[in-house]
Amino acid sequence: MVKVVVCGAAGGIGQPLSLLLKQSDLITHLALYDIVNAPGVAADLSHINTLSRVTGHGKDSLAEALKDAHTVVIPAGVPRKPGMTRDDLFKVNASIVRDLAEGCAQYCPKAFILVISNPVNSTVPIVCEVLKKARVFDPRRIFGVTTLDVVRSSTFLHQIKPAFVPHANRITVVGGHSGATIVPLLSQITQKDVSLTPEEIKTLTHRIQFGGDEVVKAKDGAGSATLSMAYAGARFTTSLLEASVRGRKGLVESTYVHLGGNPGAEANIAATGLAYFAQDVELGPEGVAKVLALPKLSAEEQAQVKIAIGELKGNIAKGVSFIVDIP
Ligand code: NAI
Repeated sequence: MVKVVVCGAAGGIGQPLSLLLKQSDLITHLALYDIVNAPGVAADLSHINTLSRVTGHGKDSLAEALKDAHTVVIPAGVPRKPGMTRDDLFKVNASIVRDLAEGCAQYCPKAFILVISNPVNSTVPIVCEVLKKARVFDPRRIFGVTTLDVVRSSTFLHQIKPAFVPHANRITVVGGHSGATIVPLLSQITQKDVSLTPEEIKTLTHRIQFGGDEVVKAKDGAGSATLSMAYAGARFTTSLLEASVRGRKGLVESTYVHLGGNPGAEANIAATGLAYFAQDVELGPEGVAKVLALPKLSAEEQAQVKIAIGELKGNIAKGVSFIVDIP
């Protein structure tokens, strides 16, 4: 039995994400929770002839949706409009994520929790603090989904260097998930026929950091990335299920996690001084199998990580202090 719950399943990300997850043969039960339209989306998806069962759960049925969950994916909350930063979403999304995390603590304390709702840099600390308070916190099981930055990195690189095969090569992205906290490690590209000038690296890095703004602007008030995010969310969920359900070894994804208590995180705690950071993580049966140490960075990347650390400090404190009083 592998039950995956999507919270915010009727939204712009939730619907295509649920569609992609319905195609996974690793999932036996797909439970769709939303405060609006969940039963309708569930009825629609349930006609697809893959083996998983689909159920829909409205706002009074969070307990039923979360019960026995193996994995909970959270794209619930409001998206950005033109001119907004991800941090502007905190006011609304912080309490949505807190309430869902409280539900997880109560009804599925051992589930993997994948946080998509922005600002990820702050919502992941909110989830962790809720679980700590409820005494069910396991840092290996909570993930901030930053996969869209990884997906964008390889797509944008391929656009300027066609020799780079975007779906077969992964670029590590470290830091966090907003603007300057997104640091793609372009120095780590090993493909011999792909080389970048310093100017190309600068332009590409900026495009990856602010790629989300391209979509927000093009959608002109109708929201932010949904389809590419659904693809990225499904990819991360599938990797986690491959590692945890099927026992596949050596699967690595970049993701934003609580460092303390996670295997292998000591080096990155020492390098960043932070409690939360995105980097490559090897996935395993219990979630995080190993946090991989930052590789040797170029001088520009070191400077970018320094800026990211400065911003992340504030983002993390904002999330933590939403749940606990910081003296
Ligand atoms: P949307 O507004 O289309 O959908 C959000 C859904 O959440 C709606 O169906 C709404 O009814 C539901 N919802 C609201 N409160 C809820 C609650 N308490 N419980 C359950 N469901 C609830 O928004 P969209 O475009 O799907 O974006 C969702 C979130 O994902 C936003 O915060 C957005 O910023 C974030 N996002 C994250 C990305 C990432 O890379 N991590 C990329 C793109 C968006």
